[in-house]
Amino acid sequence: MLQTTPPQHAAIEAFGAYRPARVVTNDELATRVDTSDEWITTRVGIKERRYAAAHETVVSMAVEAGRDALGKAGVAGGEVDLLIVATCTAPSQLPSAAPQVAHLLGASAPGAYDVNAACAGFCYSLAQASHAIQAGAAQKALVIGVEKLTDWIDHDDRTTSIIFADGAGAAVVGRSGAQGIGPTVWGSAGDRPEAIIIRSRDQLLEMDGRAVFRWATTEVRAEVDRICGASGLSLRDIDIFVPHQANMRIIDNMLRALDFRDDVVVARDIALAGNTSAASIPLAIDTLLDAGQATSGDKVLTIGFGAGLTFAGQVFEMP
Ligand SMILES: CC(C)(COP(=O)(O)OP(=O)(O)OC[C@H]1O[C@@H](n2cnc3c(N)ncnc32)[C@H](O)[C@@H]1OP(=O)(O)O)[C@@H](O)C(=O)NCCC(=O)NCCS
Repeated sequence: MLQTTPPQHAAIEAFGAYRPARVVTNDELATRVDTSDEWITTRVGIKERRYAAAHETVVSMAVEAGRDALGKAGVAGGEVDLLIVATCTAPSQLPSAAPQVAHLLGASAPGAYDVNAACAGFCYSLAQASHAIQAGAAQKALVIGVEKLTDWIDHDDRTTSIIFADGAGAAVVGRSGAQGIGPTVWGSAGDRPEAIIIRSRDQLLEMDGRAVFRWATTEVRAEVDRICGASGLSLRDIDIFVPHQANMRIIDNMLRALDFRDDVVVARDIALAGNTSAASIPLAIDTLLDAGQATSGDKVLTIGFGAGLTFAGQVFEMP
């Protein structure tokens, strides 16, 4: 029998975000592809999104979001001993982004790696950070969801170019007197790899929108109750629902079928952020915090879902 560290509790200490400066409206997209503000607004619920400039890279946006979260938590970069970057748009196959992000944030030789679970990446990574702290493998973790999807979409394809966008969101996770992050429910459906796919480094994203929509509003939706139950709660106990910001109609469809309280706060960041894959959940939470729609101690239910197919979610207490 080997020696182990005693189990610890983990909680989120703060969120942070980075949004590229450039706002791209539906009208601007309609000058390039055959679409309209009316079609995008009613079918997807996006009004505008952010596009990163050349100097805004996966690494630089992750650093900015991470710095924002560390500042809000009052944590120095040097205290971070685990850094996880959730991304499916890292510019190089090797090295991964996380060690560079850690170095630029002044973290001293932390565990650092990328997670590619597409739009579920933030929830997978939050689970890993929580597990590492609970197991004593880390004391202060930084989890960053970041994407530069505009490098990987065909800007002449109206079915994908109107949806995807860029940005970064981050969370600081640390030891706590009580567990603030509930058990993660995660899973995959590897029989549908082609639903959202980038076939190789020299090819662009392809998506079967209808298949993704159907999966999200049937199989993924059914997981929301399981996520809640894993924390010993009912949907009526949830104060804030933060689904992956994929499509406003998917969010509305989920809400109609789920027994949340009437006063549950629902993240609808997609309207102004577009679909930023692994960054969408922490960006949406940052928006709610900025707008004063979230209070410390609120019970937040998240669910991320996307390419793979993969999904993951958990309940946590708002810092
Ligand atoms: C992509 C999506 C918005 C398409 O909406 P939809 O209602 O399923 O639309 P369809 O694909 O059935 O297409 C309906 C019509 O609109 C057209 N259309 C597609 N994109 C359009 C656009 N940007 N502007 C105008 N018309 C468009 C189609 O060509 C089609 O025309 P047709 O009937 O003449 O053939 C929708 O399927 C979706 O949101 N899916 C989920 C995608 C998602 O969440 N992806 C990320 C997961 S992480």
